Amino acid sequence: MIKKIGILTGGDSAEREISLKSCEAIKKACNELGYATKRIIIDGNAQKITPELVEVDFVFISLHGGNGENGVIQGLLDSLNIPYNGSGVLASSLGMEKSLTKQLARSFGIQTPDWKIFEDINESKKYIANEFPIVVKPSADGSTIGLSFVRNQADFAEAVELADKYDGNIMVENYIEGRELTVTIIGQQVYPVIEIIPKHKFYDYECKYEKGMSDYICPAELPSMLTNKVQNISLDIFNILQCSGYARADFILDKKNNPWFLEINTLPGMTATSLVPKSAMAADIPFNDLIQMIINESMKK
Ligand SMILES: Nc1ncnc2c1ncn2[C@@H]1O[C@H](COP(=O)(O)OP(=O)(O)O)[C@@H](O)[C@H]1O
Ligand SMILES: [Mg+2]
Repeated sequence: MIKKIGILTGGDSAEREISLKSCEAIKKACNELGYATKRIIIDGNAQKITPELVEVDFVFISLHGGNGENGVIQGLLDSLNIPYNGSGVLASSLGMEKSLTKQLARSFGIQTPDWKIFEDINESKKYIANEFPIVVKPSADGSTIGLSFVRNQADFAEAVELADKYDGNIMVENYIEGRELTVTIIGQQVYPVIEIIPKHKFYDYECKYEKGMSDYICPAELPSMLTNKVQNISLDIFNILQCSGYARADFILDKKNNPWFLEINTLPGMTATSLVPKSAMAADIPFNDLIQMIINESMKK
């Protein structure tokens, strides 16, 4: 039986601040659900926290990006035999690497924008795109950090340099103009689709985390066939990657109503106003119940 939950936060990824925010919301919920909690902050070497980890019955990872989301922490917890929320090592690693996720998705017939991946910054700088605009982003990491919308060849090198700061693997992806959708999966269940209407061209860092910088419509106003389609694709990707517990898949819906899969987030944001809690709320699941559901689902793996 779970009595004490350790909430693991901090870390050195570009998303550290969000991780800390998620931690506060998760801790409060866990306390209200009757669990004893301990906040465990990673600063530097994660091995230093091992004594704190072994004291708890369950770890709720509240880390986004970097080692918290890419399987490294999941491996540490596996080796200590401590249960934790969300996906295991394999799905976490695959989900973090956008190009591999897309490769797998495409091999199962799921539509994802064409892309190229460069491991070497100088090679990528030599690339001449056939058409513009294109998107340049680090293949790993998230929160739209290091992502650029490139309108012409002259701006390409700068975009590559920015992406390279966050990940050695640079992705150049076809730009899809359309509506932004995201789908929550918990267990084998899909939840109401959210349409995000950012104030900027992209759902960038500011639009993601600053109040009033995006509008959210949930459930998204879509024909029911299309809702089902996007939800089914999301669940397929979840299973193809062997995700567990919960995750969130991002899409762009083009002008002809074709959904284009962008990525899956294996540790999506968990502040009270984050997307997964919004989607759960639209299905009448309040935040505390959502946290309990995630814990229950995660104990099944
Ligand atoms: N190929 C694309 N076409 C159109 N918009 C894109 C594309 N790639 C990314 N975006 C925009 O950038 C945001 C972040 O991209 P995403 O691939 O989801 O990475 P992350 O959320 O991990 O930073 C998306 O939510 C979308 O607004
Ligand atoms: Mg995204």
